[in-house]
Amino acid sequence: MMAARNLQQGFKQSPDLVCNNEKTDILLLSYSEAIEKLKAFREKSKGKQQYLAMYSSIFGGITTDPAAMVIPMDDHMVHRGHGVFDTTTIIEGYLYDFDEHLDRFLRSASMAKINPSFDRETIRRILIQTVKASNCREGTLRYWLSAGPGDFELSPSSFHQPSLYAIVIQNPSLLHNNPNNGVKVITSSVPIKAPQFATIKSVNYLPNVLSKIEADESGAFAGIWVDEDGFVAEGASMNVAFVSKERELVMPRGKKILCGCTAKRVLRLGECLVRDGRLKGIRLKDVSVKEGKESQEMMLLGSGVLVCPVVQWDDHFIANGNVGSITQALLNLVIEDMKSALPSVGTPVHY
Ligand SMILES: Cc1ncc(COP(=O)(O)O)c(C=O)c1O
Repeated sequence: MMAARNLQQGFKQSPDLVCNNEKTDILLLSYSEAIEKLKAFREKSKGKQQYLAMYSSIFGGITTDPAAMVIPMDDHMVHRGHGVFDTTTIIEGYLYDFDEHLDRFLRSASMAKINPSFDRETIRRILIQTVKASNCREGTLRYWLSAGPGDFELSPSSFHQPSLYAIVIQNPSLLHNNPNNGVKVITSSVPIKAPQFATIKSVNYLPNVLSKIEADESGAFAGIWVDEDGFVAEGASMNVAFVSKERELVMPRGKKILCGCTAKRVLRLGECLVRDGRLKGIRLKDVSVKEGKESQEMMLLGSGVLVCPVVQWDDHFIANGNVGSITQALLNLVIEDMKSALPSVGTPVHY
């Protein structure tokens, strides 16, 4: 109590004990002491993921100091989940399929009633400049639009100014790190999101997190959501596709799932397998669990895994537990596409 009053009166507060009961000793920190603590915290977590640069519209610029990569507590995204996000892979100094991700980002913002303070071109420029400042050639760019800070009310008031955040994370290249021996998936027992929420890439990922934890706990790579009519939807951070008995590449329709940029690209790249006769066709359709489990091949599609073969779903082995040739061919096509730096999919950073 005494220490809190001292701070209000502007006295410099040393890290003495200000709350002392039998169990807890809590420090009251000055601004510079809090910053020192943040620096020490970041120093301690070195060696995990490396955060190279962050943009924040709150400070209107980019920082490369991980200790400063923080957002305000009263941001509506923090305490109400009122924010949307997206991710773009940085590969050999290019942003892969950036405009597709940016379009989905802005679509999600609009569906979440977040009206960004910047236009598309400005957001695009800020994001590219953040990657440039990071000097990162292989990694991930993550970005968020939020209703912004203002207060702790449920609906964002007129005090809220939408905020934009972005961070660049150093990652090993996905081109050499694919689990292409195939993975196991399970049917998720976590309830599927309602279509209105499944189609927005919002920060409300609690169901997705719980689904992934459930998969981890059962020794599986991912949980698969099935809708109330018994049709396959998606994974918690990936789309799903199959090669049917008729040798068609089939994907669940998009009304109840997130429209994946990887899936969209795979649909396009897969056309060459139809032309050379390896596939009979490509179709978006409802896929029942039975049909999925009896398919010739099953795969997960997403920025984090590219094209990942599934060899077991619950107790059922897909294609006798072997990685299918179409899945492998699609993975190779995506890798080639990423390396190609074609103007349609590769945005140069100009470091
Ligand atoms: C729920 C969900 N579905 C699908 C995807 C795949 O999308 P993308 O290919 O754009 O990474 C993601 C990825 O973030 C996701 O979170």
